[in-house]
Amino acid sequence: MLPSEHVFIDLITDSGTGSMSDRQWSAMMLGDESYAGATSFYKLKEQVEKLFGFKYMLPTHQGRAAENVLFSALIKEGDVVPGNSHFDTTKGHIEYRRAHAIDCTIDEANDTQLEIPFKGNVDVAKLEEVLKKYPKEKVPFVCLTVTNNTAGGQPVSMENIEATAKLCKKYNVPLLMDSARFAENAYFIKTRETGYDKKSIKEIVREMYKYADMMTISAKKDGVVNMGGFCAMHSEELYGKASMFNIMYEGFLTYGGMSGRDMNALTVGLDENTEYEQLDARIRQVAYLGAKLDEYGIPYQRPAGGHAIFLDAKKVLPNVPKEEFVAQTLCAELYLESGVRGVEIGALLADRDPDTRENRYPALELTRLAIPRRVYTDRHMDVVAAALKNIYDRRDTIKHGFKITKEAPIMRHFTVELEKA
Ligand code: F0G
Repeated sequence: MLPSEHVFIDLITDSGTGSMSDRQWSAMMLGDESYAGATSFYKLKEQVEKLFGFKYMLPTHQGRAAENVLFSALIKEGDVVPGNSHFDTTKGHIEYRRAHAIDCTIDEANDTQLEIPFKGNVDVAKLEEVLKKYPKEKVPFVCLTVTNNTAGGQPVSMENIEATAKLCKKYNVPLLMDSARFAENAYFIKTRETGYDKKSIKEIVREMYKYADMMTISAKKDGVVNMGGFCAMHSEELYGKASMFNIMYEGFLTYGGMSGRDMNALTVGLDENTEYEQLDARIRQVAYLGAKLDEYGIPYQRPAGGHAIFLDAKKVLPNVPKEEFVAQTLCAELYLESGVRGVEIGALLADRDPDTRENRYPALELTRLAIPRRVYTDRHMDVVAAALKNIYDRRDTIKHGFKITKEAPIMRHFTVELEKA
């Protein structure tokens, strides 16, 4: 609810908050705003096919719109969609259709202090159990999120992508990649997985997507644009079905939810942000904040993620009961201490169970500090770390959090109202 002018360093999200490059701004001036068949659309379509290998593409205004369009064509009541920690809008779009999202992330992701390279991975055994239990007619797709945002911006290895795809083939279920931070995932494959250090980010991206049947993307992250997204697929039949929903919810096929100039900026953004140097500078800034927190002994999801540091709120504020929303309490403390805005990834975001309406308490209460692309300097990170040190030093005095006074029936965390418990 804070107006942004009351925020000093804004780490609420890395979504749509990046700075566009000179080349992106120049491309905006050349936007073709034709209603149908704009050159801006065809340039974007070509870029998408080159990078990801998909022939069919529908532009949307952002990621959740791509989910809405594609899921309208795919999901029906009673379905199940297994995956690795579905993002909240993804889960929202599944549950809104009276289907269920089943989380098959590896258990290691719940131990914040465990340092392993690919903490976003799918537990292949858990996934196989789900695919065995439900007939394929009830599983419209498996959803693989790269990087795994909810588990801490943690990557999925190429080996795990391949193993997941193999299972999908065995059970005849398509694989969808939720691709918001696909380039950061490719960076971690290059720097952490054996056999990839000599490959370019673009080659790795192409290899990741050869295993997928379709994708949704919020272009506001690794596309480095302020607004935009799309869904893409190999199947002409699925494209036909999804087209109808794109026209209904977003706009005509060749612009969907985007203007021509925005599609131009995205075409350039996708090209630039799949270059190693740009990703390296960004991800090293996240690691820099992590290293500062190590200096002060402040616990977070290890290793540092691609787009954010996820503070382990239960360890930072050990005296706040889980019913009083620990990670949200840490957000409030951080703002009061320093004017820094983060975001809760905990019980508020986990929402109520759609069947029982009971609060869901996830294993982890995380406070996310997401770092926008090309916006802050390392000196800003020093301020954030110092503020957290001050809070950590007085953690014994923080005993209470918040209670809910008003909440929406679904995706409550966007608009929830709270008062001190
Ligand atoms: N999928 C993932 C993995 C995301 O992180 C997001 C958005 C979406 C889908 C939805 O995209 O916002 O463009 O509609 N994540 C933002 C965040 C909001 O702060 O992590 P959108």
